[in-house]
Amino acid sequence: MGDPNIAQTKPFVMEIDAGTYAWCACGQSDNQPYCDGSHKGSEFKPIIEQVEESKRVAWCGCKHSDNAPFCDGTHKEL
Ligand code: FES
Ligand code: FES
Repeated sequence: MGDPNIAQTKPFVMEIDAGTYAWCACGQSDNQPYCDGSHKGSEFKPIIEQVEESKRVAWCGCKHSDNAPFCDGTHKEL
């Protein structure tokens, strides 16, 4: 698998409501941190995350986390 595009070298820290989210794994979306369909034709596809309650999350922005879709600190090594 090729390397995803680095959307930003830090997480997207956000307060979000319960719901279903499609995290952009390819890094090409113009609607970061979410998928906008730009991955089409590539080997990437979004990770669908079910969020059960309103909370603060840190979506991975660098797209290299081993705990995707969430930041695990890997961005510090890029
Ligand atoms: Fe990707 Fe932190 S932003 S690991
Ligand atoms: Fe990146 Fe869909 S636009 S995974």
